[in-house]
Amino acid sequence: MAERTIPIADQRHAAAVPAIPAVLQPPSGLLADRLGRPLRDLRISVTDRCNFRCSYCMPKEIFDGSYPFLPHASLLSFEEITRLARLFVAHGVRKIRLTGGEPLLRKNLETLIAMLAELRTPDGEPLDLTLTTNATLLAKKARALKDAGLQRVTVSLDALDDAVFRAMNDVDFPVAGVLDGIDAAMRVGLGPVKVNMVVKRGTNDGEIVPMARFFRDHYDGRVVLRFIEFMDVGNTNGWRMDHVLPSAQVLERIDRVFPLEPVEPNYTGETAERWRYRDGRGEIGLISSVTQAFCRDCNRARLSTEGKLYLCLFATRGHDLRALLRSGASDAQIAGAIGLIWADRDDRYSELRSAGQAPLASGERKVEMHYIGG
Ligand code: GTP
Ligand code: 5AD
Ligand code: SF4
Ligand code: SF4
Repeated sequence: MAERTIPIADQRHAAAVPAIPAVLQPPSGLLADRLGRPLRDLRISVTDRCNFRCSYCMPKEIFDGSYPFLPHASLLSFEEITRLARLFVAHGVRKIRLTGGEPLLRKNLETLIAMLAELRTPDGEPLDLTLTTNATLLAKKARALKDAGLQRVTVSLDALDDAVFRAMNDVDFPVAGVLDGIDAAMRVGLGPVKVNMVVKRGTNDGEIVPMARFFRDHYDGRVVLRFIEFMDVGNTNGWRMDHVLPSAQVLERIDRVFPLEPVEPNYTGETAERWRYRDGRGEIGLISSVTQAFCRDCNRARLSTEGKLYLCLFATRGHDLRALLRSGASDAQIAGAIGLIWADRDDRYSELRSAGQAPLASGERKVEMHYIGG
């Protein structure tokens, strides 16, 4: 038992307390890392808990009743999250995505959303404020989230077939509950709603065309369905290359039934490659982090539930911003520390792995995805 859980728990503590620069300069919004990449997207995990046990993220055997989830006192408070978010925005962040675990399990999340919705970019623009959810609580919460200032949601849904979906979430949750959540989000205007489907060959690849058909037919092209290659995140999901169905094959399967054409990206560094149906009934996205790494333009930073900053989804170490916050550091000092951390970043895990290089030193363990968000 201990052998199973302790290494993962220990991993969460692998974080250095960030250095504060000797000379403090105000954030310019022009930060670039060692590969010239700006900081634009901050993903904030608000809880490490989830009510699903998707085998590719939180397999039941490991995330059981004895798993040491974070105690409440470890979590950043809403005030701490907002304070950090404001400093990240000063450094150039334009989009904030709340994640988990399952973010809607965090109590009073609307309060945090209302606080974040007040932030403005240096040009006075509101942020793109969004959230990733499994939608189990979305029907109940959509209205409050919208009223608090959330702009849109992305819903995870891996199958339309009830048996396949219940097996994948591993808590027997029905598809209908997720669809209710999507409908509620559409009704209150939390759009454009995106739906993320992780494709695992041999498990749900038979659902690709039914999912495409359903979201074309039922929502007038207003829901963007995105297919994600199963990734080797974390240490527990038993990832194997033969479980990955390359996006090129997803494209081929859909195009055969509903012809597609490529669309230009919405913005630099977008994770998804966009394709639209030639008959005008909406678009899909292909997220190919395994077969076509997109590290070159990666402008994403991740803040864990307990305030550690991670510079890559596959990082092995974080930077303990909570330690700075709770040591009484000033805004200028914390902003300076964030600037130093980003300037030193050279993460590009997926790119190195695709190039056949070993992305991690031997013995290094990756952070778990439920802990830093997707
Ligand atoms: P939009 O703002 O709607 O464009 O969303 P997004 O694609 O930036 O974020 P989302 O969380 O929906 O990303 C979808 C999936 O892509 C995630 O669940 C991950 O599986 C994967 N993903 C997102 N960001 C990264 C990343 O930086 N690296 C890798 N390898 N995969 C990522
Ligand atoms: N591979 C790809 N995506 C994953 N996610 C979680 N685990 C994985 C994985 N192993 C993403 C999915 C899910 C979101 C919460 O995290 O997009 O919808
Ligand atoms: Fe929960 Fe999302 Fe992970 Fe599934 S993928 S266990 S819904 S956090
Ligand atoms: Fe960014 Fe790391 Fe993903 Fe590459 S693997 S796109 S560097 S998060």
